[in-house]
Amino acid sequence: MKKDNNKKLFPKDFLWSASTSAYQFEGAWNVDGKGPSVQDINENIPEGTTDFKVTSDHYNHLEEDVKLLAELGLKAYRFSIAWTRIIPDGDGEINQKGIDFYNRLINLLIKHKIEPIVTMYHFDIPAKLEDKDGWSNPKTIDAFVRFAKILFENYGDRVKYWLTINEQNMIILVGQIIGMKMPKSDNYLKSLYQMNHYMMLAQSKTMKLCHDLLPNAKIGPAPNISAIYPASSKPEDQIAAMNMSCLRNWLYLDAAVRGIYNPTVIAWLKKNNAMFDIKPGDMDILKSGKPDFIAFNYYNTSTAKMPESGIIKDQLTSQQKLKIEPDFYEQVDNPNLGKTQFGWEIDPTGFRTTFRETYDRYGLPLLVTENGLGAYDEITKDFKIHDDYRIEYYTKHIQAMKDAIDEGVEVIGYSPWSAIDLVSTHEGIKKRYGFVYVNRDEFDLKDLKRYKKDSFFWYQNLIRTNGESL
Ligand code: BG6
Repeated sequence: MKKDNNKKLFPKDFLWSASTSAYQFEGAWNVDGKGPSVQDINENIPEGTTDFKVTSDHYNHLEEDVKLLAELGLKAYRFSIAWTRIIPDGDGEINQKGIDFYNRLINLLIKHKIEPIVTMYHFDIPAKLEDKDGWSNPKTIDAFVRFAKILFENYGDRVKYWLTINEQNMIILVGQIIGMKMPKSDNYLKSLYQMNHYMMLAQSKTMKLCHDLLPNAKIGPAPNISAIYPASSKPEDQIAAMNMSCLRNWLYLDAAVRGIYNPTVIAWLKKNNAMFDIKPGDMDILKSGKPDFIAFNYYNTSTAKMPESGIIKDQLTSQQKLKIEPDFYEQVDNPNLGKTQFGWEIDPTGFRTTFRETYDRYGLPLLVTENGLGAYDEITKDFKIHDDYRIEYYTKHIQAMKDAIDEGVEVIGYSPWSAIDLVSTHEGIKKRYGFVYVNRDEFDLKDLKRYKKDSFFWYQNLIRTNGESL
């Protein structure tokens, strides 16, 4: 991929895109042969929050939604394929109606000259596989690779960009919050990283298979990556920030790109008697499948300090457990940053830092697969949505991305979250992200009509001018 030397412009073929995921957007959870995923039967949905059964009903608004994406001017569109639409129980019969649905979507996108970017797996493992221990069962590796093969065979003639697993790092670090079933075991930490190992093997095998079957396609992982700041200039806080970055970021990319496990994380697991089992040949598998680019989701940075000594993990509350790893790092607020209405820190400069650090470390082209602002949007009586706060958020983040490009980072595309309103992972439809408003409330489905927000017209103009309007 060539770099553009003109500082004022984004690269000529830059993929201006937008993202969704199947379980948060499609609805039609049990229609046309689809099997249930863990998300469809999730019983831990917080009170007052909708489930994932109807969501934005994209399944029944397909043509209308793709027309909106075309009007927005997208060069690419990132969506995920529901494993349970293709193989209802995860590893058995193929459901032709599921195959047909994504054929219709892909053909419509191509008709509108929109490049499809396909995520194979976005938090929605088939419930039937979960009954057999899901990702904790090594047989799920084969089930996933078979699913990937079916996707390559059916869509590989038209899909050039593939993403393996969305936010594997968030599944491991906060899976219970985003509706995943986590391993049950006396040695939870070991089981957790055993599950991570199986997912890594599935990913490497899939990347290899993609290259074997589709020599012109490109494939990459899609973790959530963000720079980690030390809370102070104390040397031990710098160590804490590095520790957190290894556990949160580099473990996943070192395995995907370099085919090795991050040494800091391995040392930490051993210290905690939680080293997972690696069978002979596993590391060869990890080395055999490599990505062509790194896709990553970015919402915010984190800040870490070294925790006080003597903290015992079992004595922490569940909230504290999410933030503190004894003798390793403690995540703290960053007083220099503002927050969204939902309490997420906002850090455009951290986006630039994340680009720089990731590119320096791996040297692969970068594709942003999520970035965006969740907010309580309001619709006026004349059906307008004045989301100037979202425009401000995007302006600053896209400028930061441009700064990184000007500093030499190779970025091939930007796919913000989300193209159209959808249901958040655990905070419902009230936490809106889209350029298009979907008229429904948490429990009142209303008419599900689509209305363009102010940010829709802003992004449309930005794409039309290839970023010059910034
Ligand atoms: C990412 C996920 O973590 O963040 C998306 O890939 C998710 O699925 C997005 O929706 C925003 O998070 P949330 O929790 O606000 O929906």
